[in-house]
Amino acid sequence: MIAADTKPAFGVYVHWPFCLSKCPYCDFNSHVRHAPIDEERFVQAFVREIETTAARAPGRDVSSIFLGGGTPSLMQPQTVGAILDAIGKHWDVADDVEVTLEANPTSVEATRFRGYRAAGVNRVSLGVQALDDSSLKALGRLHTAREALEAVAIARSVFDRYSFDLIYARPDQTPDMWAEELQRAIAEAAEHLSLYQLTIEEGTPFFGMHATGKLRTPDEAVARALYDITQEICAHHGLPAYEISNHARCGAECRHNLVYWRGQEYAGIGPGAHGRLDIDGHRHAIATEKRPEAWLMRVEAIGNGIVADDILNSEERADEFLLMGLRLREGIDPERYTALSGRPLDPRRIAILREEGAIAISPDGRLRVTQDGFPLLDAVVADLAA
Ligand SMILES: C[S@@+](CC[C@H](N)C(=O)[O-])C[C@H]1O[C@@H](n2cnc3c(N)ncnc32)[C@H](O)[C@@H]1O
Ligand code: SF4
Repeated sequence: MIAADTKPAFGVYVHWPFCLSKCPYCDFNSHVRHAPIDEERFVQAFVREIETTAARAPGRDVSSIFLGGGTPSLMQPQTVGAILDAIGKHWDVADDVEVTLEANPTSVEATRFRGYRAAGVNRVSLGVQALDDSSLKALGRLHTAREALEAVAIARSVFDRYSFDLIYARPDQTPDMWAEELQRAIAEAAEHLSLYQLTIEEGTPFFGMHATGKLRTPDEAVARALYDITQEICAHHGLPAYEISNHARCGAECRHNLVYWRGQEYAGIGPGAHGRLDIDGHRHAIATEKRPEAWLMRVEAIGNGIVADDILNSEERADEFLLMGLRLREGIDPERYTALSGRPLDPRRIAILREEGAIAISPDGRLRVTQDGFPLLDAVVADLAA
C-alpha cells in the first residue's frame, strides 16, 4: 500500500459534466446536450476557476489530478492539455503526479488516448461495466463488450497504468455467472479494478422500474454471495480490495481516491465538484453549482462556481474522517479521530463490534472494518459515530 504521510497529498478533481446519453442507473452530475458544447468557453471557465481556487489555497504540491464525469473522454485532448497547464501554472505539480482520466470504452474515445497521454494524462479508468452484450444493453450502455475490451487493449498499449469498472449484482446475475465474468475481467486487468455493486439510486429510471417490480436485483443472500466471491477471486489473483469497491496490486492503488478516503486536502473544479480545503486553520467543505451552463455563467461573472462553502466543526470533521477512512482496508488511526473530535471513540462500542467480528484492531493500533464487516459498513460507521 502507498505510504500515507511523506509529503502532504493534495488532489485536484476536475468534473466534465456531459455524456452522449444518460445511463438509467446513474445519478452522477451528467447531462446530455443535443447542440454542440462550446468547449472553448468551458476551457476558459475551468482555467479561471483553477486560478481563483489556487488563490484561496496557494502553495500546495499537487500529487494527483482526476478528470472525472460525466464523460471526460468526450473532451478534446487540447482541452485536457489546457486544464492541466492551468493547474501547473497556479500550483506546483509533483514530478510523479498521477493524472487519471475517466473514459467510456468506445472506439471513438479510444482514438483520443494518445492525445491525452501527450497532454499529460498517465492513467485511464474505463467504464466497462459488464462483459456481455445483453447486460450492457440493459444498463443502457452505448458500447458492446468487444468494443470495450478493444478500448482496454488500446489503453494498455498507451498508458502504463489503467483500470476499469464493472457493475455487479445486476438483474438475474448468479454467483456462477459473476465468477466467470470476473475471471475474464481479471485476465484483461493489469493493476487495478473497481467493482461496484449496482445501487438503485432514487430519481433514476432504474428506481422507478425497481419500485414497480420491472427490474429485479439479487436478494440480500445472493448479493452477499456475489460480494464474497468478488473478494475471494480478486485476492486469489493478487488484486485484494484496498477499499470496499476497489482492488489493486500492492502499490497500484488510485492515489487520488486515497486522498478522499484518508481525509486529505483536495480542490474541486467544474460543475458540481466538491472540495475540501484547509484555509486559515479551518477545513472548508466546498461545492459548486451543478448545472453546467449556470456554473459557466457564474464563473464568467464572479470567477468561481461556488454555491456552498461551509467550515466543518470538529464533530463533522471527525465523522467524515470515520466515514471515509473505514472504507479503506488500512482503516483509521483512532488517535487522529480523538484529535479531530476532542473525544475518543466509545470503548464499549468498539468492544461489541470486535466481538461481533465487524471490526478489528491491527497490531499498530489502527482500527479497521473486517471482510465480514464490510457489507455492513454503513451500520458499523453509524454505530461508532453515535
Ligand atoms: C462517474 S461514472 C463514470 C464513468 C464513465 N462516464 C462511464 O460511464 O464509463 C463512474 C462509475 O460509477 C459506477 N456507477 C455509476 N452509477 C452506479 C450505480 N448506480 N451503481 C453502481 N455503480 C455505479 C460505474 O461503474 C461507473 O463507471
Ligand atoms: S454512467 Fe457514465 S456515461 Fe453513463 S450517464 Fe453516468 S457518467 Fe454518463
